[in-house]
Order: sequence, then structure tokens, then C-alpha cells
Amino acid sequence: MDFETHHYDVLVIGAGGAGLRAAIEAAAAGAKVGLICKSLLGKAHTVMAEGGVAAALANVDDRDSWKVHFADTMRGGQYVNNWRMAELHAKEAPDRVRELEAWGAVFDRTDDGRILQRNFGGHRYPRLAHVGDRTGLEMIRTLQDQCVHRGIEVHMEFTVVSLLTSDGRASGAVGYERERGRFKAFNASAVVLATGGTGRAYKITSNSWEGTGDGHSLAYHAGAELMDMEFVQFHPTGMIWPPSVQGILVTEGVRGEGGVLLNTEGRRFMFDDIPEAYRTQTADNEEEGWRYTQGDKNARRPPELLTRDHVARCIMREVKAGRGSPHGGVYLDISWIKKRLPNADAHIRRKLPSMYHQFKQLADIDITKEPMEVGPTTHYIMGGVRVDSDTQMSTVPGLFAAGECAAGINGANRLGGNSLSDLLVFGKRAGEHAALFAKANGRATIDVDAARTAADGVLTPFERSRDEGENPYAIQGALQEMMQALVGIVRTDDEMRRALGELTAFKTRADRVSVIGHREYNPGWHTAIDLRHLLTVSEAITRSALERKESRGGHFREDFPEKDPAFAAFNIVTRRGSDGTMEVSRVPIPPMPAALKQIIQDQT
Ligand code: FUM
Repeated sequence: MDFETHHYDVLVIGAGGAGLRAAIEAAAAGAKVGLICKSLLGKAHTVMAEGGVAAALANVDDRDSWKVHFADTMRGGQYVNNWRMAELHAKEAPDRVRELEAWGAVFDRTDDGRILQRNFGGHRYPRLAHVGDRTGLEMIRTLQDQCVHRGIEVHMEFTVVSLLTSDGRASGAVGYERERGRFKAFNASAVVLATGGTGRAYKITSNSWEGTGDGHSLAYHAGAELMDMEFVQFHPTGMIWPPSVQGILVTEGVRGEGGVLLNTEGRRFMFDDIPEAYRTQTADNEEEGWRYTQGDKNARRPPELLTRDHVARCIMREVKAGRGSPHGGVYLDISWIKKRLPNADAHIRRKLPSMYHQFKQLADIDITKEPMEVGPTTHYIMGGVRVDSDTQMSTVPGLFAAGECAAGINGANRLGGNSLSDLLVFGKRAGEHAALFAKANGRATIDVDAARTAADGVLTPFERSRDEGENPYAIQGALQEMMQALVGIVRTDDEMRRALGELTAFKTRADRVSVIGHREYNPGWHTAIDLRHLLTVSEAITRSALERKESRGGHFREDFPEKDPAFAAFNIVTRRGSDGTMEVSRVPIPPMPAALKQIIQDQT
């Protein structure tokens, strides 16, 4: 091989929470681990899960248990979750949080010194262990510490362009270091994908530049199946003004601490539409909702804490009806709590320090005194690589996936805070089983020709002059606008068919992309490479969304506004034939054991 090659038992691609947790577990099992990080270590979308990690510790409400958490997760996901993953997640999350604490994470505390938990949408009891509004950041800091101390080799600012397979199993990956543009190959006995989400396929997103669906796309092109790609989560509250900060997350923790949503008439419009499944548990007046957020066990949840899919749609309804804020959103007000709480200003600054600074510095708004202007932002994808629930292995032997790039646990809609517990529970499982696979199967041989072809393939944009080629930024921008407009929060058959046509045209343009300059820190070149992943995931989202002729969770069809039991199934995306046609097929969800069904019945 004419480029640098590294050998590992387990190669982990992605260094957010899931990747770090997988790397720690694989190293603990004795595996030699390499960790690839697209950005700098510590910079991950995990930090955008600000409000807390969901785990039934029952520290604030002793009625909580794994069973209630399981039932909440299934109901939030509209019952198309992989129930086994939801069960494992609910059972194991408390241990993973305690372990994190033992590793040094400093959580907020209850008066008697236990980990404090707050309310979040769709969780029946206060369940989110948190560190102010910087929970994801604290988790990353803690996991990163563990990784460094275990001597795991980290390859920072490294972009993977292709996975390698030999003899029908994963054998490594090839990519380049962004600083010098030099290629490296990785030979591994097992590979774990933990690359996060696909938010950058949309114009308005909480994801930063790394969220281009690399793991989804790499897995798909390596022959793995994707699942339920139509389920995209539009977090109800992102910043909308000024334009330069549009999409930045406003944590659900604001609503968990008592923040309310108002339209321009000053009305709490969330009272207008409370879904049947939540009616008995949702307050119908301000007083009761406030008592709930203050820990009154007899009170019911405020409607602002309904699930994200529903809240986002209610906001869109207000905007469409002309009751939105000046910049096309609604108001989120936490300052009102001073009517009820002495020292409210200090309380807000202590519980929501990042939000306070974010709005002060970016929008010149003091959230202790004025409402915030907010609107939905693309935050997360529930769909991802189809994995075995217990081991996290994909349909390609030796290729594992965990965290946001894996599908299953969240069904049609994820509850806030479940992402952080998901990545701890399934990151650990992926690392453990990847190490076992590596031990049992040994090192696969590396396909040198495939590695070289992949590297050559991404260099072609340098061969075209600026005049004869397309600008990668222009295509990326147009793609994001198109996905936002045609495959966004509200979808129709017509619009999605138009989207497919546009995707074909974008692909043709992307094949002619040109970049200038050399390979060292060349952002145009990086964008050209990311574009290939974005086009793959955008097509998977669009085709899956067309196929699902119903509305469920994060997927809302104006032409099929109801849920249809015929679609209570998984949507599987497969690459077929030598021309690589993308196909979507519906497969039934395996029957749920009676004991789990009973838990759901008992809890609803
Ligand atoms: O709103 C938030 O703090 C986000 C949390 C999450 O996505 O889990």
C-alpha cells in the first residue's frame, strides 16, 4: 500500500458519546483500539443534548422505574421501536449514568445529595440527570478523560471516505487527514460506526458541519441495511433570529424548568391540541402544569412537555395561521416564572447558564426578562443502520453501529434525553461485542485495490478546472434548501417526487464537482466529499418517506394525516444490483413478548 496503514482489533469511527463509550469498552476487553474523529476530540453533537440524560434512577420521584421508562419510550416512538432495544436501554441506563458519575461526571444534586433529575417531554416522571444545560458536554469531557487514560490511539481531523470489506466482512476503512490531505488505511478485525446524524442535509439544523450522515452512507455503500430513515426529528425550539444563528438549539430544559410557548396573541397555544394518548397525564391549566414542574406528584405535565414531534407541529400550525412571531416562530418564555418563584433570575441563570449566555451574546436578549423567539430545527434522525439489538452488529459481519447512526430504539420519535442514555448503553454494547467479534474472528485481510480506488475516487474534483466543474458549496446549499422545503416537517407525495427528481440532478452535478488549490486544509474539497454522503442519506430519507403512506412521530404526511396500522413496520433501505439502486421494503416488527406488552398496558 502506498499510504500509511494502521492495524487495530477494533476501529471506532466517530468520537461523540457512542464512539467514546464503545472505544472504552473495547479497550477494557483487551482489544487494541483506534478511534477516528472527524473533528477535534471533544467536539461532538453529543454536546447538543443539553438538558439531560434519561435514566430511571427514581431520585426525584420514587414511582419511576425501568418499566415506566420503557413504556414512555415505546409510546413516544409510536410503537415502531425495536422493543428489545427499548427494553435494554431502560434497564441499563441507570447503571450507565452511575458509572459515568463514578468516572467523574459532576451532576446537579438533590437536597439530600443524589443526582438531580428534571422533567422533559414525554417522560412521565422527572428523569433527566443533568448538569445545568451542559449535560452532553460533561459527558463528553468524562468519557474523553477515560479514553485518554486508557491509551486509546486517536486520529483527529480525519475523514473516512470508504469502509473496506473482504470475504463478506468488515476489514477496515480508508480516509484522509484534513490537515495535510494525506490518505491512511486502517485494517481492523471489527469496525464500530458512531458518526452521529444527518442534520446537515437540511438548511435549518442544530448540527454543526460534521453531521453529514457519513456513517449511514458508509454502511449503506458497504452493503449494510438502513432502517426507518424517514423519521427525522425536528426539535421544536431552535433559535431563529438573527439569521446567522438560525437553528442553534434551545434546550428542552427551558420547558422542563417551566418555560411556556406563546403565540403573538400571548396565548399558550399548546393547550389547544393534546393527543389522546397523553390526555389523562397532561394539565389543562397553567396552575397545574406549574405545580408539576415544581415536583407536585398529584399534578399533571404542562402541554409544553408533550413529545417533540407534536410540539414542533403545533408551532408550525401557529405560524401558518398567522399567529407566529416576526421572524417566523413563536415565543418561549421562562421569565414569567418570576410571578411564582422568588429569586427567579438567579434560578434561571443557575439552571440554564448556556441559554442565558447564548441569547445574551447572540441575540441581545436577557431570557430572565424577555421571551425567546424559537422555531423547529432539524436535530436528530431516528433512522440509521439496522443493527442486532443485543450486539449492535449490522447486517455486514464485523460492522457495528451505535448512537444516532444506528436505528431502532427510538421508533418514530425520540424522547429528549434518550439519546444520551442510548449512546451510553449501546456504545458500551457495541464496544463489547466488537471486541468479542475481533477475538473470535481475527484480522481480516485488507483489500488494497479497493482502498486505492476509494482514495483515487475522491481526488477527481482536483482534475477539473473551476470553469468546467461545479461548485460543491452551491450544490450543498441547494440540496439543503430543497430538503427543507420538500422533505421537511410536513410532507406530500407530490413534493417528495419532485425531491427525488432534484436529487438525481444534484447527483449528476456532484459527479462534475471541481475544487481548486491543494489538499492541505481544503474546505472546498471536504465539502465535495461530504456531499456524496449527504446525497445518499437525502435519497434514503426521501424514498423511505414516500413509502410510508401514513403519519407517525417525526414523519407527517399532509396527504395521509392519520396513523395506519398497516405501516406499523420497519422500513428497510437496501442497495441492490451492480448499479446500486436504492430500494425500500417494509418488514414486520417481531412480535413483542407478552410480559413487555403487559408493562405497556399497565403504564398507559
Ligand atoms: O433539548 C435538549 O437539551 C436536547 C436533548 C436531546 O436531544 O436529547
